[in-house]
Amino acid sequence: MIVTERLRLRPLTEADADWWVRLHSDGEVNRFVGGYTLDQAATRLRDIQRQWTGRGHGLCAVELRGTGEPIGRCGLNWWEQFGETEIGWTFARAHWKRGYATEAAQAVLAWGFGPLGLRRITAMIHPDNTASAAVAKRLGFTALREDTVLDRPCTVYALARDDYLAPGPR
Ligand SMILES: CC(C)(COP(=O)(O)OP(=O)(O)OC[C@H]1O[C@@H](n2cnc3c(N)ncnc32)[C@H](O)[C@@H]1OP(=O)(O)O)[C@@H](O)C(=O)NCCC(=O)NCCS
Repeated sequence: MIVTERLRLRPLTEADADWWVRLHSDGEVNRFVGGYTLDQAATRLRDIQRQWTGRGHGLCAVELRGTGEPIGRCGLNWWEQFGETEIGWTFARAHWKRGYATEAAQAVLAWGFGPLGLRRITAMIHPDNTASAAVAKRLGFTALREDTVLDRPCTVYALARDDYLAPGPR
């Protein structure tokens, strides 16, 4: 459980499948991350649970501290084929442009580079996803390479622990 000024992050479980489907059913939300059937959501959430059990990290539901309402997801995802740990962020459209994604991601980076001791965290972002790239750049990520993930093009952004810990503005 991670708590920030406005948010609470908790591990996602298979019980979140209905909510996961709803979150990704908005055409603006799923434009770059795709939509899910209930079966696909259950499979994805089982994989997330396996990551929590096997690696000690995974994706979280992000809830408003004030009301407990789940408004998005953020956390860490291990990609076996890249040998990389990625940070991800997806929020319901009603909660965009309030700084929630950046706030949640800042807490996830502190967790990843702190207690988890990761040396580098990536963010795989579709070249047209300017809102997501803006979050990554605000957090200090820089473009590392062009790649393909799940048959879609992506720019792989990266932030190294040493750069994250270096003093000075990011
Ligand atoms: C990617 C995504 C999470 C970014 O959302 P976002 O609302 O732009 O990002 P944040 O929550 O960090 O909000 C930042 C904005 O809130 C503004 N803001 C307003 N109040 C704020 C506050 N109290 N604190 C900080 N920022 C605030 C910032 O100025 C910034 O606006 P700007 O980008 O116009 O400068 C969102 O577009 C999304 O969910 N997209 C669909 C899923 C997706 O594509 N995910 C990424 C896959 S790689």
